[in-house]
Amino acid sequence: MITKCLFPAAGYGTRFLPATKAQAKEMLPIVTKPLIQYGVEEALAAGMSEIAVVTGRNKRAIEDHFDLTYELEHQISGTRREQNLSEIRDLIRRCRFSYTRQQQMRGLGDAILTGETLIGDVPFGVVLADDLCINDGGDGVMTQLVQVYRKYRCSVVAVEEVPEDAVSSYGIVHGRKIDDHHLMVQGMVEKPAPEDAPSNLAIIGRYILTPDIFDLLRATPAGKNGEVQITDALRTQAEHGMVVACCFAGRRFDCGSVDGFVEATNYFYRRQFG
Ligand code: G1P
Repeated sequence: MITKCLFPAAGYGTRFLPATKAQAKEMLPIVTKPLIQYGVEEALAAGMSEIAVVTGRNKRAIEDHFDLTYELEHQISGTRREQNLSEIRDLIRRCRFSYTRQQQMRGLGDAILTGETLIGDVPFGVVLADDLCINDGGDGVMTQLVQVYRKYRCSVVAVEEVPEDAVSSYGIVHGRKIDDHHLMVQGMVEKPAPEDAPSNLAIIGRYILTPDIFDLLRATPAGKNGEVQITDALRTQAEHGMVVACCFAGRRFDCGSVDGFVEATNYFYRRQFG
C-alpha cells in the first residue's frame, strides 16, 4: 500500500504574475476549487491519505486551506452556502497533512529531497499540482500509476505524447515497449532540444518513486538550468531497469501555462455549470 503523496509546491509561479505576487500559484482556482485541491483529491482516490507538502515563502494559504476555518464555518452554518464546503471538509477529515519548507529554489529534485523528512523510507506518490489530470468515469491517473507499481515494484512515471516543438518543456523518456500502454524506461533527458530528444514521450507531473531516490538525489549534481533534476536521478534507476512509464488514460491540462489554465477553466466550468 502506498499511503503517502508528496506535493512540491515551493515554486514562484512567475508565469502568473501579478496574481502570484503574494499568494501560492497552487491556490489559483479552476472555477471554484484551488489547483492543489484537485491534486489532493486524486491522491486520496488512489489511497494516499498522508499528504506531504513542500512549501516556501508566501505559501501559508495552502496550510490554511487544508484546515478548519471556524469563523467562516460558524457564519455559513445552516445556510445553503454550507454545501460549498462539503468537499474540502471531507478531504480534511480523511487526510493527514504535513509541511516542510524549501528554503532555496534549487529545482524539482531538490524540492523532492526536501520532502524526505516527511516521507521516510517508503515508496510514495508525487503530484505536481500545475498538471491537472482527469479521467472522467475511470480511474484517476495516480490510481493508474499505483496499479503499475503493484505489478513492477519500481518507480513509475506518467507520460504522454507531445508535439515535437514542445519536447524542450519536459523530461523525455525512451525505452522498450512492454505493451500498448507501458514502457520499460531505458533513458531519459530533461528538456532536450527537439533534435536531441529520444522520443516525444513527455513525463507529466505524476510519479511514484521508490525511496532509494533520495540517496540518488543527494548524489545528483545540478543539471539543466542549474537545478537538481528529478529526471537525472530517475535516469540512474532506469539504467537498472527500475522505471516504468505509463501512457495514462485521461486528459492533462498544463495549468502552469496561461493557455492550459484557461482550457481547464472552460472544461471544468462546463462540467460544473454547463
Ligand atoms: C518538471 C520536470 C519535467 C516534467 C514536468 C511535468 O518540469 O522537471 O521533467 O516533464 O515537470 O510537468 P517543470 O514543468 O517544473 O519545468
